[in-house]
Amino acid sequence: MTQPSVYDQILDFGNRANPYPLYTELRQTPVSRADDGSYVVSTYREIVALLHDPRVSSDLRNRPDYPWTDESPGPGLPPFFISLDPPEHDRIRRLLMRHFGPPHDPDRIVSMTSGMAEIVGCLIDSLAGRNEADLVDEVAYPFPVTVICELLGVPREDQPRFRAWADGVIAAIDPTTGDFPTRQRRRDEVNAELGAYIGELADADRDRAGTDMLSELVTENGPEGRLARGELVTNMALLLIAGHETTVNLIANGLLTLLRYPEVLQRLRRQPELSARIVEELLRYEPPVQLLTSRTALEDIDVAGTTIPTGAPIVLVLAAGSRDPDHISHPDVFDPDRPDNEHLGFGGGVHYCFGAPLARTEAQIVLPELVRRLENLRLVSDPPPYRPNPLLRGPRHLPVEFDGVAPARAMRGRERRAA
Ligand code: HEM
Repeated sequence: MTQPSVYDQILDFGNRANPYPLYTELRQTPVSRADDGSYVVSTYREIVALLHDPRVSSDLRNRPDYPWTDESPGPGLPPFFISLDPPEHDRIRRLLMRHFGPPHDPDRIVSMTSGMAEIVGCLIDSLAGRNEADLVDEVAYPFPVTVICELLGVPREDQPRFRAWADGVIAAIDPTTGDFPTRQRRRDEVNAELGAYIGELADADRDRAGTDMLSELVTENGPEGRLARGELVTNMALLLIAGHETTVNLIANGLLTLLRYPEVLQRLRRQPELSARIVEELLRYEPPVQLLTSRTALEDIDVAGTTIPTGAPIVLVLAAGSRDPDHISHPDVFDPDRPDNEHLGFGGGVHYCFGAPLARTEAQIVLPELVRRLENLRLVSDPPPYRPNPLLRGPRHLPVEFDGVAPARAMRGRERRAA
């Protein structure tokens, strides 16, 4: 029997807990051709070049095996803007960004921080009187999901409904769950169901002057006009999904790493202001998004001595690039003190993560609180059980034990007024 390729071994669930030695092997050939015809790129310099290359498309309709045609157009919603190229991508991103961050709405995330601290406080309070917990189900999942629901204006109590749809869309990007046309069909069908739900919310919002993003977008009157209804619905679904699993994994991967590096955990307990550096190093060392499988070559592209042919799918292994020793020294050491930490955790180029400021803020709030309040925190099993997905990689559960729950810190006056 022939040995599976390094890329196939990375996709294999058996290697989910520690894919990093395989990434080291993969980087020996910066661009390799996988059995399914994709070109797998694993070194920092080459990944960055392709992230910025206009000959590389994120529009899946450019793939020769895209399942829908003009005669059979699929369930009807336009693609997510993450799956569009400029200029369409840029127009939608600008319209959404007006309600999410600088320059139009610079205070959106900052104004949410005291509310976020309160959500974290309540979740940790609910562990009082206990000595064990699953920190994925009890903190890492409910925290960012509550925040994204508040931001978008999605009722928190509907979570069981849209969790199943979000899980469905995420499963469909996992290359181990079927060939591309089958997964794309499944993803579009689930997205249409999620879109129908968001459409109902948008219609209800039209008469209500709320301050959440959905209400603002529905009543938008900016210089570039308003998103068409289909664009609004599909992209709100994208934000809801993107605000789910990724940040959950950053928090869970982060706690796991801190528990494996107890001296860093102790420093964070004493100096919560270290959390920004720690979160940045986590995004490099244990990134929630390990690879991007969504790119297609629009022309023949020469990279590191290999020609990626027109129409070929390209896989960018971000997690391998962020540990490339030609880019960063001692890449396999978790070192929040490293002076330079340029990583690929949020991607790069025109599709650089839209939610990065939110995700960073959430992780910077929750990690110091957990290590401060859960006394003598320890892992129950190492490695913990992982989710199946090789792209959005993280523990499914994080069982921990602790001796007690320290009281929440009293809110300072400024925080109380903002809350
Ligand atoms: C730690 C958490 C997160 C990580 C690691 C992460 C990572 C990424 C990465 C790697 C990309 C680039 C995808 C590509 O180039 O194809 C991306 C794009 C994106 N992310 Fe995130 N993300 C996180 C959290 C969030 C959150 C909370 C939101 C929503 C508020 C979000 C919304 C998006 C969107 C909409 C895009 C597409 C941007 C575009 O195409 O211009 N992300 N993210």
